Amino acid sequence: MNLTTERTVLRPFRDEDAAALYEFSRLHQVADAAGWPPHKSVEDSLRVIRTVFHSPHIFAVTDRETGALLGSAGFTGRSRGGYGPDDELGYSLDPKWWGKGIMTEVCRRLIRYGFEEMDLSAIWCTHYDGNGRSRRVIEKCGFQRVFSETLEDDLGTHLTHFYLLLRPAAGEEDTWRNT
Ligand SMILES: CC(C)(COP(=O)(O)OP(=O)(O)OC[C@H]1O[C@@H](n2cnc3c(N)ncnc32)[C@H](O)[C@@H]1OP(=O)(O)O)[C@@H](O)C(=O)NCCC(=O)NCCS
Repeated sequence: MNLTTERTVLRPFRDEDAAALYEFSRLHQVADAAGWPPHKSVEDSLRVIRTVFHSPHIFAVTDRETGALLGSAGFTGRSRGGYGPDDELGYSLDPKWWGKGIMTEVCRRLIRYGFEEMDLSAIWCTHYDGNGRSRRVIEKCGFQRVFSETLEDDLGTHLTHFYLLLRPAAGEEDTWRNT
């Protein structure tokens, strides 16, 4: 399934995206903030495409005009419970495209997809402490901060902020319905 925004097309990843995915996923400024190890080679990126990005709810973010790969975004499949069907939104963008509002545009479309196509009741989003860019994307999409927790994984210890967006009732105002 493809989704369209003003400047992007969100489509399933393909093997041929591996080289372009590697170009930005090898960068610490992207990987460290996203919480995964930097990709080590094009083959590594291909493995991620065939495993992690194989999910129907994870999309290649591409330039609507040129088709170039700009990033990745979608639902991780991680449920945190408590609010009915839920999932977690995750994303990363090639730094060449940072600061133009692209990921906010993409996330608003994915939120609509999550509520309308996946029939979610709640969408979670998290960011590490200090990731102000991601925090702003989350805030601009209307999420509310719920709690913060220090998490430990192979990559280190991170204070992580958790945000929640509940499916609005019919007629309730929201920031994503008309995107
Ligand atoms: C997070 C990321 C996807 C943001 O994408 P983007 O398209 O640049 O985001 P937008 O342009 O829609 O919004 C960025 C906002 O951060 C603000 N910003 C930029 N630098 C900032 C900083 N150092 N501190 C705080 N805010 C900052 C921008 O001004 C903008 O907010 P505004 O519209 O209120 O001015 C991108 O930076 C990225 O891929 N980062 C690495 C991976 C990552 O962090 N993934 C998310 C893991 S939780």
